Amino acid sequence: VSEQEAQHFINCIGSTPGFPKEGIIFRDFMPVLADAQALQTLMRGLEEALPVPADEFDVIAGLESRGFLIGVPLALRLGKGFVAIRKAGKLPPPTLSASYELEYGTATIEIEQQAITPGSRVLVVDDLIATGGTAQAAQQLIEASGASVAGFSFVMELTGIDIPDTIKQSHYSSLVTMP
Ligand code: PRP
Ligand code: ADE
Repeated sequence: VSEQEAQHFINCIGSTPGFPKEGIIFRDFMPVLADAQALQTLMRGLEEALPVPADEFDVIAGLESRGFLIGVPLALRLGKGFVAIRKAGKLPPPTLSASYELEYGTATIEIEQQAITPGSRVLVVDDLIATGGTAQAAQQLIEASGASVAGFSFVMELTGIDIPDTIKQSHYSSLVTMP
């Protein structure tokens, strides 16, 4: 990814102060997906910035919903499968669940009990890490499935919020850091 491509990609990220509530600047990567060139840069950037080499994980897990938008194309590029981690109540039973706190609210996420083969190594992908609550809950689900997290791959990382040590100490990467 060239400097110019990276700058164009960053320019495409939308920022909306005060959404969804006061004090939050909403970082929107949808305009990146809408721009053909920025979308190519995003996918190439994620591949180049993998937190671990591709032969060190077996499957990609994407976090609903924006994590799905990058997880499947990344899995296709790398020749991996894709597993969905969804908000509560969307997946058929049996499921495993984990609850967590968001930058704005609380939530529960789930995975189908048989979705991940025990012993497999999983790359977790999402558009953004803020508090890390979602990513940490995803790790709990993966470990409860008998699998392990090989690394975390994010598009954006928010500064000024402490992310959990469990994530800081694992292999993780983000393409851009912003307040
Ligand atoms: C956003 C974002 C991450 C999460 C990050 O998802 O896509 O999944 O918040 O926050 P955290 O690090 O503080 O946990 P959101 O729950 O808004 O859902 P969406 O992707 O369906 O819009
Ligand atoms: N998820 C959590 N915090 C967010 C933010 N500031 N912008 C977009 N998505 C988010």
